[in-house]
Parts: sequence; structure tokens; C-alpha cells
Amino acid sequence: MAEIMLKVEGLTVNYGAIRALRGISFEVAAGEIITLIGANGAGKSTTLHAISNIIKKTAGKVVFDGIDISAMPPDRIVSAALVQVPEGRRIFANLSVRDNLEMGAYSRKAASRSERQEIRADMENVFDIFPRLKERIRQVAGTLSGGEQQMLAMGRSLMARPRLLLLDEPSMGLAPILVDEIFSVIKNINKAGTTILLVEQNAYKALALASRAYILETGEIVKSGAAADLMKDDAVKAAYLGG
Ligand SMILES: Nc1ncnc2c1ncn2[C@@H]1O[C@H](COP(=O)(O)OP(=O)(O)O)[C@@H](O)[C@H]1O
Ligand SMILES: [Mg+2]
Repeated sequence: MAEIMLKVEGLTVNYGAIRALRGISFEVAAGEIITLIGANGAGKSTTLHAISNIIKKTAGKVVFDGIDISAMPPDRIVSAALVQVPEGRRIFANLSVRDNLEMGAYSRKAASRSERQEIRADMENVFDIFPRLKERIRQVAGTLSGGEQQMLAMGRSLMARPRLLLLDEPSMGLAPILVDEIFSVIKNINKAGTTILLVEQNAYKALALASRAYILETGEIVKSGAAADLMKDDAVKAAYLGG
């Protein structure tokens, strides 16, 4: 296996009396697409938020590229090229598509002229991946369709030049044809060199895309393995693949 890019050890999160994560451990190798599958409320978003350090960990450790980032401020984690696309997209509804994309590069902004040129080149790269965003560059983001908002959220994250991208349910609420498009884009982003940790309720699609998977149930990893094997697993089939 390639070198380990992300290592999560004993990650525990309590929200008051609610034990959302009960000491989970997993790892992501450089270049992989890993998926974390679980029902609503299993703790998927909590896992990503804890890695990004936007919620408080009760216990556990997160190591990225050999560096302990457990206590690193969230903006520094983004600067280190570990970038999360939040669930529900969280775009800036009142800003244009262009301004949203520029926000994604905020950690590099206001610097030199060459930096600004690079940001412009990165934006062209995002438009190559999502041509629909280019057509809507001046449109106010809040008026985009659900699928376009997901594209914008992903495009904005790409502006931070992630080496590891955390995706929180990118297919949620989208029409089937758009779901296919988003999954195909995820594959291409990975092929272009970005490692992916994908959180999904759409287990079938996620397992079809990923090399390995972890199954999360009420804050615990109950099963893990090659995605192709889990797709054939009877218990996984019954619980997540509609029998
Ligand atoms: N801010 C919060 N305060 C209290 N409980 C929360 C909070 N966020 C999530 N939870 C609870 O933690 C558990 C895991 O939630 P979450 O990580 O959002 O699950 P998933 O993303 O898998 O649907 C759920 O029981 C949820 O109700
Ligand atoms: Mg969630």
C-alpha cells in the first residue's frame, strides 16, 4: 500500500450526553478513494468535522502527512491542503459564483501578482471540471440549482488546492443524473492526484467508486475492507444495499 496520508486513532466525540463517536480508528493512503458509509446519525459528519477540527474532540488523534493536526486551527489545516466540502454545501448565497470560488483561495489571497495569476489559473481548472459554473460566473449563488450549488461547493474547495478532500454526502438531494455526474467528477479529481475521503448514505455508488470502505454504526466502525468485498457481504447488502 502507498504511504499513509491520514491516520485517525481512537477518535471520540461526545455532544453532552450523546456519544457520537466511540473511539474510531482508520487510515487513508495517498491516492486512494476511501468511503465511510453509515445511516443517518451514524456519526459521519462528526468524523469529518473532528478531522477538520471545527468541533471539539473528546479524545483521539489525527495525523496528516506524519504531522499531528489534532489541535491545529481549522484554517491552518486548510492551508496544509486538507479541505472539507461540508454537507448541505454551505456556499455564500448572496455572493456570485466567482466570489464564492475566490473565497476558496482565501488562504493564499492578497499575496503577490504571481499568486493572483495562479488563482486565476485554478479557477479555469475548476471551470474545466464544471463548465456549468463558468456559464453562471456572475450569478448569485443562492439562485443556483441544488446540483450547481454542490458543484460550486466542490469547486470552491478545489481552489484551496487540496491534497486530501473530505466530501460530506455530495449526492444528497440530487436527481439521479446529477448524482452520476458528481460521482464521475469525484473520480476525475482523484485521477488528477487528490486523495478522497467520501462520506455517503448512497452506499452502492460510494462502494462502486472507492477502493476501501469503513462501515460506521452509531459511532463505531463495525466493518471494513475492500469496497468490492463489502459490496458482496450479506450483512452490508441487507443493511445498506437494499438486500
Ligand atoms: N451539534 C450537535 N449537538 C448535539 N448532538 C449532535 C450534534 N451534531 C450531531 N449530533 C448527534 O450526533 C450523532 C451523529 O451525528 P452526525 O455526525 O451528524 O451523523 P451523520 O452525519 O452520520 O448523519 C447523531 O446522534 C446526532 O444527533
Ligand atoms: Mg451528516
